[in-house]
Amino acid sequence: MALYTETVMDHFMNPRNVGSIDDADGIGEVGNAKCGDIMKMYLKIEDGVITDVKFETFGCGSAIASSSMATEMIKGKTIEEALKITNKDVVDALGGLPVHKLHCSVLAEESIKAAVKAYYDREGIEYDHTQFPDVDECETCRYV
Ligand code: FES
Repeated sequence: MALYTETVMDHFMNPRNVGSIDDADGIGEVGNAKCGDIMKMYLKIEDGVITDVKFETFGCGSAIASSSMATEMIKGKTIEEALKITNKDVVDALGGLPVHKLHCSVLAEESIKAAVKAYYDREGIEYDHTQFPDVDECETCRYV
């Protein structure tokens, strides 16, 4: 069996929604310290709906395919719906990823959350902080 599904290869070779949004309402950037890959997600939000989304990913093929698929999954969705999307949903939509590449899909989930959090912070919207693990509030990270 091929290592990557046709869907993964398609989103890697022809990634959807690549780029940036100059007047984005929320930008989320996350990275994986081990592999060094970075994913940046830009959201345009109107009346609680994600009307546009773009991404820039400096990383492996699975990270690019995951971010491409994630943007397709959240475009036109409400913020609440987008926040419910997990890395497993992204992996399922891609038809699977090799086990050692599952962490690439985590970046997609995290970058969406980071972008929404940035939007909430910018707009002064109240939110449940436990939804968004924050480095500033992490006991261990605080003293590093
Ligand atoms: Fe780290 Fe893909 S190898 S994001």
